Amino acid sequence: KKIAVFASGNGSNFQALVEAEKTGVLGAKISLLICDQPEAYVLKRASAERIPFLCVSPKCYSSKVAYEQALLEQLNRENIDFILLAGYMRLIGATLLQAYPRRIINIHPSLLPAFPGKDAVDQAVNAGVKVTGLTVHYVDEGMDTGQIIAQRAVEIETGDTRESIQKRIQLAEHQVYPAVVQQLLHDCINLNLEGSK
Ligand code: GRF
Repeated sequence: KKIAVFASGNGSNFQALVEAEKTGVLGAKISLLICDQPEAYVLKRASAERIPFLCVSPKCYSSKVAYEQALLEQLNRENIDFILLAGYMRLIGATLLQAYPRRIINIHPSLLPAFPGKDAVDQAVNAGVKVTGLTVHYVDEGMDTGQIIAQRAVEIETGDTRESIQKRIQLAEHQVYPAVVQQLLHDCINLNLEGSK
C-alpha cells in the first residue's frame, strides 16, 4: 500500500512513520508528502529521506475545491491508497473525502472528544485535567470529529509544563501512529461497531 502524509509543521510524526517504514513495522510505503507551508521543517525531513513532496499553498487556487483537485491529481498520479494527516492544519474538504472514503486518518493530541481543534495541550492544561492523551481517528468534514480508531492516555503530573506534557504526548504518538496504521492497513482493526458513525 502507498501512503501520502499531509503535514504543515515540524513533522516529527512524519519522521516516526518513515522510521517505521524502514524497520518494516509499517508494512507500507510512504510515497508522498503534501505540505501547505513552504517554510515547514517537514520539507527538510522529506528531502533528507528522499521522499517526493508537493508543497502548494491553497492561496494559489481560486477555491478549496480547486486546491484539493490539484492535490488529488498528484495523489492519483502516485497511486496513493491512504492519506495520513500528521499536523496538517487544515480541514479536509469534500473533494478528498469522497475520493478517499475511510482512508484518511488523523492523529490529535487529546483524548477526543475532549479538546478538539488547535492548542489541544493548552486546552487540557487550562481545564486542569489529570489525564490527557492522543487519539487516532478517521477524518470527516468536521474538526477532529471522525470515528475514533485508537487512543492512548498520558498522565499529567505535578510540576508538568505545557512543554513537558506535549513532549510526553508526542513520544506516545510516535509509537502509536505507525502501529495503528499498520493494523488498519492489514485489516487487523474492525471498526464496524453498531451505533458508531
Ligand atoms: C501532533 O501533536 C499531532 O497530534 C497534531 O499535530 C502535531 C504535529 O506534530 N495533529 P509534528 O509536526 O508531527 O511534530
